[in-house]
Formats: sequence, C-alpha cells, structure tokens
Amino acid sequence: MDAIAMIKERRSVRKFKGQPVERETMRKIVSISRWAPSWANFQIVRYTLVDDESIIKRLAADAVEGVAYNTNILNGAPGVAVLSFVKGKSGKLNKDEYATSKADVWEVFDAGIACQTFCLAAHAKGVGTVIMGVINDASISQIVGLPDEETVAALIAYGYPDETPAPTPRKDVEEVLRFAGE
Ligand SMILES: Cc1cc2nc3c(=O)[nH]c(=O)nc-3n(C[C@H](O)[C@H](O)[C@H](O)COP(=O)(O)O)c2cc1C
Repeated sequence: MDAIAMIKERRSVRKFKGQPVERETMRKIVSISRWAPSWANFQIVRYTLVDDESIIKRLAADAVEGVAYNTNILNGAPGVAVLSFVKGKSGKLNKDEYATSKADVWEVFDAGIACQTFCLAAHAKGVGTVIMGVINDASISQIVGLPDEETVAALIAYGYPDETPAPTPRKDVEEVLRFAGE
C-alpha cells in the first residue's frame, strides 16, 4: 500500500469481527510504530496491549467516563492498545529545564505522532483502529497497572474491521493552507 493511499484511506473503525488479532501481528504493528519521530529521539511512548476480554470489559465499564458510544465500541473490540508515555522528558534538552514555552506539551505531541503511526501501521496490516480521547487516565492506569512514571495519552480499540466506514469529510485545502507573506 503506498503512503498516500494509506493516509487517505485509513478510517476510524468502530465495529470489529470477534476474531482476535494475533499477538505476532500486533508485535509487527508496534515494531513499525516505533519508527515515529520524537523529541530528541527520547522515544517516550509505550504500548500496553490488552487482549484479555475481562480487562477490556473493565476498561469499557470504568475508563470511558460513562460515554455509551465508547463503552459499546470497547465491549465489541477484541483488542485495546493503551498508549502511554514516560513523563518529564520530552521538551527538555537538559535534565532539569524545559527548553521552550510549550514546556511539557511536547510529550503529548510525541504521543500524537506515535498514535497516528500506530493506526497507519495497523491499517497497512488490515487491522482497524479507533482512537479514544474521552477516557479516564487514572482508571486506565490502575486497570492495566501502568508504571508510576507513565501517563495515559489515549486508548486505541483495534480488531479486524466488520464495517467499511464511508470517507469522513475534510476541510478544503484553501481553508487550512496559507503561504506566509501573501
Ligand atoms: C484525539 C482524538 C480523540 C478521539 N476520540 C474519539 C472517541 O473518544 N470516540 C470515538 O469514537 N472516536 C474518537 N476519535 C475519532 C475521530 O472521531 C475521527 O478520527 C474523526 O471523526 C475522523 O474520522 P476518520 O478517523 O475516519 O478519518 C478521536 C480522534 C482523535 C484524533
């Protein structure tokens, strides 16, 4: 699959086949996702994959702020990736001080790039994903037992697609692009 088709044809998938995604396939997807760029190449992002049904059900019940839409997606997903990052590193060029006015925002930026890279890698391997931002970080950390030094960036439900979502609209390029000085 060429890169442009991959970017344009990836869709959020919210209905999955019951069949689990093999751990070896997920290992390959994370192995590709590792190539995402990061602040100072610190590579702070971590992937905790959940393919145990009882843990997924706990995430559905306790980790999405009671939003039924997300609860239903999780209850029908054979897998969930908890995307987390090691706190307090990105944004710094020396150990103690943030280098820019964005301070620690760069760690979330790193997580965002990794998130998209993971979803594109999954798409290339035939695995559908949906990123979830309506989540409760503390509950997720507790349910999956994240190390204290990490915080949750997003949940990504994954599985083999059981739907072919229609393309979602995008703003015209004229709306989002400007050339400075014109
Ligand atoms: C940061 C972020 C948070 C999102 N949170 C949710 C969510 O909580 N639930 C959900 O169903 N979709 C969520 N989405 C998916 C978006 O709704 C989706 O990407 C957007 O509508 C464009 O559709 P597409 O991904 O099919 O291109 C989220 C996407 C992003 C990038």
